[in-house]
Amino acid sequence: MDKITIGRMNNAPKIDRNIYGHFSEHLGHCIYEGIFVGSSSSIPNINGIRTDVVEAMKKIELPVLRWPGGCFADEYHWRDGIGADRKRMVNTNWGGVVEDNSFGTHEFMELCRQVGCEPYVNINVGSGTVREMAEWVEYMNSDGDSTTVRERWANGRKEPFNVRFWGIGNENWGGGGNMRPEYYSDVYRQYQTYCRAYGENVPYRIACGSDGEDLEWTDVMMRTAAKFMDGLSLHYYTITKTWEDKGSATDFDDKLYLQTLKKALRIDEQITKHGAIMDRYDPERRIAMIVDEWGCWHDVEPGTNPGFLFQQNTMRDAMVAALSLNIFNRHADRVRMANIAQVVNVLQSIILTEGEKMILTPTYHVFDLYRGHMDAELLNCNVECGCLENGIEKMSVSASRKEDTITVTIANFTDASAVRLDGISAQSVSGRILSGSPRTYNTFEKPDAVSPAIFEGAELFGDHARVNLPANSIVALTFTI
Ligand code: AHR
Repeated sequence: MDKITIGRMNNAPKIDRNIYGHFSEHLGHCIYEGIFVGSSSSIPNINGIRTDVVEAMKKIELPVLRWPGGCFADEYHWRDGIGADRKRMVNTNWGGVVEDNSFGTHEFMELCRQVGCEPYVNINVGSGTVREMAEWVEYMNSDGDSTTVRERWANGRKEPFNVRFWGIGNENWGGGGNMRPEYYSDVYRQYQTYCRAYGENVPYRIACGSDGEDLEWTDVMMRTAAKFMDGLSLHYYTITKTWEDKGSATDFDDKLYLQTLKKALRIDEQITKHGAIMDRYDPERRIAMIVDEWGCWHDVEPGTNPGFLFQQNTMRDAMVAALSLNIFNRHADRVRMANIAQVVNVLQSIILTEGEKMILTPTYHVFDLYRGHMDAELLNCNVECGCLENGIEKMSVSASRKEDTITVTIANFTDASAVRLDGISAQSVSGRILSGSPRTYNTFEKPDAVSPAIFEGAELFGDHARVNLPANSIVALTFTI
């Protein structure tokens, strides 16, 4: 029988709710159609923002949303997206489509208001200027009486928006300017100087981090700019095969399924390696690791615009979400925000839309199941279980405690498994489960092919519990102690 032992940690970190964050870019149908339809649309909306999508985001308590990119951020000029006369541009990164800038600063802030989440704004370092950035921060956050602030008033907003999270550049080692770390770290130091505090609002400055493999980037950034940053980002995408031939989102065999999981699990190693470098310069762990892009990147759905990155989302993706969130939880002493890419209609989305229809993906349901971990104290979790044929452990687990409630989340990758859970003397246990073959997914015709159900496979025995995990299942257990 497999065994999980739960226990309290010394100096246990809190699992920051922003680990359950999301990312929205002007890419494909993420913003336009997915989130923003305009106030004259027949699709129910408030101020142009889809009501169904907002309601779904609210249900999972979506805590933080990154915008406007991604690659798009490094070509975005924020003044094009305010006021009555919006400039048009071509979105050269993503499909060469016309961007009419009808969704801009005010619309993004309205989206965050409706969802009740924190905004995380990524500024343009690649093709912008320090002045452009400084004026955006002033426009958003200043309560003074300047020409820039008056522009905001003229656009209907008297109070400052008080945006806290600012990303200074995106993938500046690649699409964001092909910079070397020595150069970017100096540019970062310059930009962050003018990302000013206004009133009580002290900006939380996030520097662009590595692509996942490049440890040198992290070392240079920490050596030269650590004292100027609150967070350093990390991007890690799970690509089952190769960049050129990523593999289908829906058509894959069991071997490829396990390969996806193995690749996804490598994010643990990346966090550990980059974290070890950060520890050398920041042993107190003041600076957060911000995993602001992660998730599965498959081939686009056949027949869709390759520049739109639209992919289906199966139980395999849900497993990747479940194991990744378990990993982030376990690294809560360093990882304080993560943003799955991307929230609607792009890459590993939690929501898909088609005209007025909307469905929730299996990945959405994982975020729903895992809500108990938000802001909870991390618990130690020792797992003794067998391995699968490609050498990975057959399950992934994390546990946390909030007052008299313990949440344990288990992703059981393949066959059914009986587990003994030690270290919890509980009065009651309840659970929810998401299960199905790795290839199952929701469609607009069958939106509930994968949906959560009540789990009754856990039983209490005084000082321990027994859990019968069905095959291919993700289980969230709630113990009252
Ligand atoms: O999420 C899609 C793209 O992936 C982002 O724009 C970019 O930052 C990354 O390469």
